Amino acid sequence: MIEQRFKCPNCGEIASFYGLPGETKITSCASCHLQGRITIPAQNQSDNVAIEVSHLKKVYGDLIAVNDISFTVKKGEIFAFLGPNGAGKTTTVEMIESIRTPTAGTIKLLSIDIKNGFNLIKERISILPQEFHSFERFTVRETLTYFSKLYKKRADIDEIIDAMDLRSHKKKLYRNLSGGLKQRVGVALSLVNDPEIVFLDEPTTGLDPKARREVWQVIADLRNKGKTVFLTTHYMEEAEHLADHIAIIHKGKIIAEGSLQELLSRYGEKTTLYIKNCKSDDAKYHLEEKGFDVHLSGDGDITVKIEYKEKVLEVLSELRHECIDYDGVDIRGSNLEEVFLRLTGARLTEEAET
Ligand SMILES: Nc1ncnc2c1ncn2[C@@H]1O[C@H](COP(=O)(O)OP(=O)(O)OP(=O)(O)O)[C@@H](O)[C@H]1O
Ligand SMILES: [Mg+2]
Repeated sequence: MIEQRFKCPNCGEIASFYGLPGETKITSCASCHLQGRITIPAQNQSDNVAIEVSHLKKVYGDLIAVNDISFTVKKGEIFAFLGPNGAGKTTTVEMIESIRTPTAGTIKLLSIDIKNGFNLIKERISILPQEFHSFERFTVRETLTYFSKLYKKRADIDEIIDAMDLRSHKKKLYRNLSGGLKQRVGVALSLVNDPEIVFLDEPTTGLDPKARREVWQVIADLRNKGKTVFLTTHYMEEAEHLADHIAIIHKGKIIAEGSLQELLSRYGEKTTLYIKNCKSDDAKYHLEEKGFDVHLSGDGDITVKIEYKEKVLEVLSELRHECIDYDGVDIRGSNLEEVFLRLTGARLTEEAET
C-alpha cells in the first residue's frame, strides 16, 4: 500500500488515502465533501527517492557558496552531508527546506518540485536547524506539545518522549537541560509531525563525546523507524558511524560521494601497521631492505603499509629475526579524514576549526 496525497480542486484541502499502484478509487474531500475519482500512479524508480537535487547553485555577491551540485537521497537512508566550516552545508540544506532561494537548479522532495509545490510536502518533512534553541521556560513536554500544535498530522508526544529516552526529563525546564539533552529535545521536536524526511543540521556540534553518542543512537533510531535522515556534519566519525550514503562538500562543490566502503576503497590509503617505540635506529633500514613501504612517525615509531593481512606477520618476523624490540603494535584502517586529505590536501578537522 502506498500513500497518495491530493489537493481538492474545490476547496484546496490536502488529503491522503492509501491504495495499490495503478488502483483507481472514488474518494471524497474531508472538508467540502466533493467526490472524485483518483488513480494512484504506477510505481516507478522515483518512488524510492526522497530528495533529488539537480545543478543547485547559490551565489552571494562574489561568493559561490554552493556551486552546481547534484545528488539523490533514497528513502529510509541516513545521508550525511560532510564538510568543513563554510563548505556550503547549511546553505544547501536550507535551500532544500525552502528557507533560502536557489540562484539556479531544481530540488524535488518526495517527487514534488519544491519551487511550486513546497506547500504540498511541508507537513511531511521536519527541520532541526543549526544552533537550535527553544523556549527557555517551557518544560520538555510543553515544548513538544507546543510544536506539535503547529502541524495537522501529530505523532503521540508520550511515545516520542519514551523513544527519545526523555521520560525522566519531561518536567524539566528547557533552560535547565544539558547541551546533549537540549539536542535530544531538538531531535524529538523533529518527530512531532511524524515526518517522512528529517533534516538535522549539525545536531551534535559542541557536545561532549558521551552526549554525542547518545544523539547518534537517537538518529540511528530514526532510520529504524523508516525515516529518511539528511544529516549535515563536520565530524567524520559521525558520518562513518551513522551514514548509509555520504557526500563530501568542500568550497561549495561535492568532491566525493558514495557509501563509506566505496569512499574508502576509492580514495582511502592502505591499512597501516604502527610499531611503537622501536628500540633500534636500523629498523627502518632493515625493513626497507626487505621491500616494505616504511615511514618514520614520531619518537621511534615506525609505520608500514599493509596490503594483505599476512604482511603483518612478515614485518614482525623480520624485526624478530633482527632482534629489534618495540613496545607494541597497532593496526589502523583508512578513514574519511584520509579521504578528505587526499582529495583536498587539507585535514577536515583542521579546516573545521578555522
Ligand atoms: N546570507 C549569506 N550572505 C552571504 N554569505 C553567506 C550567507 N550565508 C552563508 N554565506 C557564506 O556562504 C558560505 C557557506 O556557508 P554555510 O553556512 O552554508 O556553510 P556551512 O558548511 O554550513 O558551515 P558551518 O559548518 O560553519 O555551519 C560561507 O562562506 C558563508 O560565509
Ligand atoms: Mg552550517
